[in-house]
Amino acid sequence: PTRIFSGIQPSGGLTLGNYLGALKRFAAFQGTGPQTIYCVVDLHAITVWQDPARLTQQTREAAAAFLAAGVDPARSILFNQSQVPAHAELAWLFNTVARLGWMYRMTQFKDKSGKNSENVSLGLLAYPSLMAADILAYHADAVPVGDDQKQHLELTRDIAAKFNHDYGVDFFPEVQPLIEGPATRVMSLRDGAKKMSKSDPSDASRINLTDDADAISQKIRKARTDAEPLPGSMDGLKDRPEARNLVNIYAALADEGPDAVLARFEGQGFGAFKPALADLAAATLSPITARMSEYMADPAEIDRILGEGADRADALAQPILARTKEIMGLIRSR
Ligand code: TYM
Repeated sequence: PTRIFSGIQPSGGLTLGNYLGALKRFAAFQGTGPQTIYCVVDLHAITVWQDPARLTQQTREAAAAFLAAGVDPARSILFNQSQVPAHAELAWLFNTVARLGWMYRMTQFKDKSGKNSENVSLGLLAYPSLMAADILAYHADAVPVGDDQKQHLELTRDIAAKFNHDYGVDFFPEVQPLIEGPATRVMSLRDGAKKMSKSDPSDASRINLTDDADAISQKIRKARTDAEPLPGSMDGLKDRPEARNLVNIYAALADEGPDAVLARFEGQGFGAFKPALADLAAATLSPITARMSEYMADPAEIDRILGEGADRADALAQPILARTKEIMGLIRSR
């Protein structure tokens, strides 16, 4: 890839799922060749109601999480979406390219709108069009995300392809999803069939990036499991989703393969595995939590970093947006 883009919504506290599926991987792309662009997607967050003061706070907190996870503003562009108008503008142009049926088919839209789909915001339906704009405004060609974003990225590819086809150009690139590692889908600690999520009503279902060591260890000790000992490889965990989830979390935290983890714990029960996982999780997350609070102590500095990132992002997106309008026949005479 030549340019990497990814985003996180500031719609609540971040979880271990966000960290292992996305954040932790972001810093690793720095210095590997492609330019890295990371965004706090505040315009996506407001597709469902956000209290304004809390949104401001959560946007800074998400930015602090990027920084604490090693995203370096000298080597990456880090900004909040609403400061770069090209996102909303390109999203409008894409709204005329994308089909309504594509939007209704999104599982995330179906989940979030539930039975009451007449009463959700129009923005919630158009959400994937804005996401396509986020990525394509930079001609980014690779997007590291968790498994739950796969369908949205397929739609980004569909929008790019339809635009290129309708206007007879080869302008927008084919975007590659980067969904890799043992933690592309971290599950709830209470239910191995549900994704770990910031919106789950049960706080015990997730580990928050702001949890302290005690909270982490309590939640892991209480995590739902079974009474069987651990097998020697992941093949033996096919019908044990909760056990599989904890092993995958361990593997991702330790930067190991899940089979390597199981080779060490083979034959042992959760009485031994859970304390080891709790220690590892607390040891890995506590420096990040600490750095996050250091950044949060200086909101003006966070805002400065976001503003500087927005200037650099704007400079990259403007010519691509201008060319898009030109392709579409929109007059620009000033
Ligand atoms: P969001 O804010 O829900 O989540 C941010 C990132 O965290 C990943 N993630 C998970 N990974 C593993 N296990 C989990 N339980 C888990 N929960 C969340 C998500 O896959 C994501 O990578 N629509 C996006 C934000 C977005 C975006 C973009 C992403 C907007 N524009 C452009 C990439 C490119 C979202 O809601 O992520």
